[in-house]
Amino acid sequence: MLPKVTPTERVVARLDRVTHGYRSVSGRLNPVLRDLSLELHEGERVALVGSNGAGKTTLLKLLTGLIVPRSGEVEIEGHNTRDHSAVRMADRVAYLYQHPQEMFLQDSLRKDVGMFPIGRKLPGAAETVEQVLAQVRLSEHAEADGRSLSGGQQRRGSLAIGLAMRPHLLLLDEPTSSLDISSRDDMIATLAALSGSLRCAVVASHDMQLVASWATRVIVLDQGQVLADLSPRDLFSQPDIVARARLVPPQITQLGTALGLRPAPLDVEEFVARCTPHDAPSQTQPPADRTAADLADARHTPAVVSG
Ligand SMILES: Nc1ncnc2c1ncn2[C@@H]1O[C@H](COP(=O)(O)OP(=O)(O)O)[C@@H](O)[C@H]1O
Ligand SMILES: [Mg+2]
Repeated sequence: MLPKVTPTERVVARLDRVTHGYRSVSGRLNPVLRDLSLELHEGERVALVGSNGAGKTTLLKLLTGLIVPRSGEVEIEGHNTRDHSAVRMADRVAYLYQHPQEMFLQDSLRKDVGMFPIGRKLPGAAETVEQVLAQVRLSEHAEADGRSLSGGQQRRGSLAIGLAMRPHLLLLDEPTSSLDISSRDDMIATLAALSGSLRCAVVASHDMQLVASWATRVIVLDQGQVLADLSPRDLFSQPDIVARARLVPPQITQLGTALGLRPAPLDVEEFVARCTPHDAPSQTQPPADRTAADLADARHTPAVVSG
């Protein structure tokens, strides 16, 4: 279970009436984000979700300053991306590409991780490099070419590159896509372990297990706008939003929902706690509003299934 983080009121990023789109070869403008306003605060772990093409990557790139909106403003800690190049924004924002191999440019992971802090002569740069390599458990592979690492190691390696920038805002694009299940669980655990040391992080993802176990806030994009802005628990308890955004909740959440548990449980530990009779020994305090006795009743009543 992750430590509870209380977001502060301190705004790290602000999007004000942002509209963005891309021109087709015929010159027609295809809108992607429409009049979107949003604030991200210190202490938040934000999951950006929505179907393919919903605009998640576009939103992350706007936050890095790699692209500027066609209209509206994007500010990172008060700095408007129109007036500050992505290179200058890199003092504050780190963006991890969906394909980690795009982030390995040198002949060793250590050099890639050191590129920003050593290149910019940040104080304690060499120590930072070793520290972040240890944080992602890749110290032993520091001399390897990043491109030669396994899929899971590449993800953690690209995470180390981002962490070494000591960003105020860390943006990750689909950090668990195309990983096998154990590498994916490992990546989720690595992100969870970092939670206390990140000021504000945004993860664009289809991985609802990651959303359920890591995020404090979920922003659902649909048709270029924010369809919902809520906690993972509230998201998975609202089947209409889940269906409209074509999300697939974690299986344990689906099972809990089918058994009538409200709100939906987010992980196995919570599910078990909520299905355990009150007098049975339990390590976890159930946040449940339903008990084992309720569940027994639920077996005799039609289950409510989401989606
Ligand atoms: N550089 C680009 N040029 C033209 N169209 C683009 C470009 N990048 C993204 N798009 C289009 O914009 C829409 C949103 O893309 P994207 O932000 O990548 O969505 P997501 O990350 O949610 O899948 C998609 O229809 C995509 O094809
Ligand atoms: Mg994308």
